[in-house]
Amino acid sequence: MGLLSGFISENVGKGSMIRAMFEAGAALKKEHGEDAVCDFSLGNPDLPPPDIVAQTLRDFADRAGRPFSLGYMPNAGHPRARAALARHLSAEQGVPLEAGDVIFTCGAAGGINVLLRAVLDPGDEVLAPAPCFVEYGFYAANHGASFRTVPTLPDTFSLDIDAFDAAIGPKTRAVILNSPNNPTGQVYGKEELAELSSLLEKKSAARGRPIFLISDEPYRFLTYDGVETPSLLGLYPYAVVASSFSKNLSLPGERIGYLALSPLLGERARLMDGLTLSNRILGFVNAPVLGQMLAAKALGLSVDTEIYKSRRDLMAGILTDAGYEFLMPKGAFYFFPKAPGGDDLAFTEKLRKLLVLAVPGSGFAGPGYFRLAYCVDGKVIARAAEALKKARAV
Ligand SMILES: Cc1ncc(COP(=O)(O)O)c(C=O)c1O
Repeated sequence: MGLLSGFISENVGKGSMIRAMFEAGAALKKEHGEDAVCDFSLGNPDLPPPDIVAQTLRDFADRAGRPFSLGYMPNAGHPRARAALARHLSAEQGVPLEAGDVIFTCGAAGGINVLLRAVLDPGDEVLAPAPCFVEYGFYAANHGASFRTVPTLPDTFSLDIDAFDAAIGPKTRAVILNSPNNPTGQVYGKEELAELSSLLEKKSAARGRPIFLISDEPYRFLTYDGVETPSLLGLYPYAVVASSFSKNLSLPGERIGYLALSPLLGERARLMDGLTLSNRILGFVNAPVLGQMLAAKALGLSVDTEIYKSRRDLMAGILTDAGYEFLMPKGAFYFFPKAPGGDDLAFTEKLRKLLVLAVPGSGFAGPGYFRLAYCVDGKVIARAAEALKKARAV
């Protein structure tokens, strides 16, 4: 009686469709054995982190007995690690960044929450193109804001600038873009990003209150066939990159990420003060010490992306053979094919009975599609071929 807040008690039982699949998978594996189930439900990278990660941990262990080695540090992160990150991002994003323009956070998820905490007032609104990462709605709600999705262009999931024009209202305070995209594998092009930036610039100026453009980009390291992910930091003063080392270094459980501000923003020192305070008062205090150390040592390194590419190609061949309609992923490690018959819930249930776990597109505000995460061994992908064909046929 009265144990939980209204919001949490309403949502706690629902779980997410990804979690539901994960739990269904655990039950199936128990019943049929690990090897019988093809689990494409979770975006949990399976490749080992680059060697530098273990080496850095070993080196750290030798020094860990000293006072303060695992102590509190400045809320925005260790000054040397911030400076190294800023140097790295200057090259990656093609804009000059300094240590004061970046802040370490508990993953990209923590970073998005820190930014939203710093800029949202109750009643504000956050927008994202659909389909999108399901947690954005919760992050907006955490800070008293509402969340709405904006449609993308049919089949390509590219940005629909007219739809944004129509959707942005007086309370819109932030837009979250995710490119390379989970779940679609789309990478937004420079032209559509420039168009969205100028729309936001116009809308911000008309209202005298900026609309932030959050570029959630933990999959930036993983694009295929020469596709590049354009940077937003040189396009729009209120653009903020939220990213992490979860996927490129395969350490999502370590919770290390960051925010980076646009050098076009004159008042960015004030925004950074706000972010630093938010990092503290949300209870993160500072991002993990070890995570910052690992990040600083491994800047520019990543897991072997060729492995993801070969899995993508394998899965694409299987889906094509079986007659699925899909966009070839340009980045990240997800396929988002059309659900045959149009009912994604019914179709993923059909797959589940064939011991293949996929997430219904409805879980990403993308009904009519389903998501397959291919951060699993190639053998699992190959093993799913028969079932994927069968599900399509019956
Ligand atoms: C689109 C997107 N944004 C954010 C996150 C959260 O990443 P992190 O582990 O850096 O918090 C994920 C994780 O899967 C994601 O897919």
